[in-house]
Amino acid sequence: MSRPDTMRALQKSRPVEGLWMVEAPIPEIGPDDVLIRVHKTGICGTDIHIWNWDDWAAATVPVPMITGHEFAGEIVERGANVTDLRIGQRCSGEGHLIGTESRQSRAGKFHLDPGTRGIGVNEQGAFAEYLRLPAFNVVPLPDDIPDAIGAILDPLGNAVHTALSFDLLGEDVLITGAGPIGIMAAAVARHAGARNVVITDINPDRLALARHVVPSLRAVNVAEEDLRAVIAELRLKEGFDVGLEMSGSQMALDQMVEALVMGGKIALLGIPPGKSPVDWSRIVFKAITIKGVYGREMFETWYKMIAMLQNGLDVSRVITHEFAVEDFEKGFAAMKSGQSGKVVLNWI
Ligand SMILES: NC(=O)c1ccc[n+]([C@@H]2O[C@H](COP(=O)([O-])OP(=O)(O)OC[C@H]3O[C@@H](n4cnc5c(N)ncnc54)[C@H](O)[C@@H]3O)[C@@H](O)[C@H]2O)c1
Ligand SMILES: [Zn+2]
Repeated sequence: MSRPDTMRALQKSRPVEGLWMVEAPIPEIGPDDVLIRVHKTGICGTDIHIWNWDDWAAATVPVPMITGHEFAGEIVERGANVTDLRIGQRCSGEGHLIGTESRQSRAGKFHLDPGTRGIGVNEQGAFAEYLRLPAFNVVPLPDDIPDAIGAILDPLGNAVHTALSFDLLGEDVLITGAGPIGIMAAAVARHAGARNVVITDINPDRLALARHVVPSLRAVNVAEEDLRAVIAELRLKEGFDVGLEMSGSQMALDQMVEALVMGGKIALLGIPPGKSPVDWSRIVFKAITIKGVYGREMFETWYKMIAMLQNGLDVSRVITHEFAVEDFEKGFAAMKSGQSGKVVLNWI
């Protein structure tokens, strides 16, 4: 084989701010793994936490660690037990590695395995020319899904998992937080047949991007506009039916609870920075159902999102920047600016 022994990789080499391009050994694969030649990767908020080396990162991520978990690539090597995937198969994959012994795993609910480990966080990640992945985690990419979309299926999957938590057909949906995931959730809610889709943020650039990606939504700057006025404008009799919380902001959750109908439903994806006060009695008296959402369902979310992409769901405009990996610093700067959508790095 003419493959070299080492590869370029973006690594957290030291426990201080930054990431470094290093030469690292190409991973050895086990009998149940594949080796993937990475084509494109997406930068996630998690990667920014690791770059910044905040308290969460310092407590969670061992160094050295190759970061990154959003990727598309192609299978170049298979372990001895892998027979159902072919060399050259384009793929993305689930970055949550799970065990098979827990109650939930044995019930087939792999995404609820308590021992979940993340590539690029707990295990060597995808910001590299080559990635080792269990064959179980591979998701083949159909020919009509390009690598750039393949590289953002992980966060699209967060959006799909959250948005499909509750029936959206004919419902009025409120999404708080117009980050890349909130915007993609808005596109999914539209695709899934919601009547009104309203998205909130306090960053005008993000709201402009939301309008650009999903022209039919109502984007609301809650620093300037009152959601009650929007409810009146849309002639919602009693408020929104379903809320998708995608900001991690306490203020956004409070607004959502107020803006929901009695018996409304909330799917919570956003991660608050720490403990935050919640007006539980308001939630109880409004008889609201709350569901926490983590990751993607394995592999139902992947199935649904690929099906929707093949049936007209278009999230391509959420990718606002693409850089060669040599320019990774520009990519991270774009992410940190708050003016970007998804930022994609090219490895080939
Ligand atoms: N549960 C999971 O498995 C999982 C996975 C990925 C991301 N997340 C979380 O989901 C959230 C969305 O991810 P993202 O990458 O789109 O994040 P992001 O940080 O890019 O977007 C969050 C948006 O919320 C906005 N915001 C802040 N305060 C607000 C308020 N009061 N009202 C409305 N919007 C407000 C911000 O301006 C920003 O545009 C984040 O909290 C992230 O940590 C959770
Ligand atoms: Zn991610």
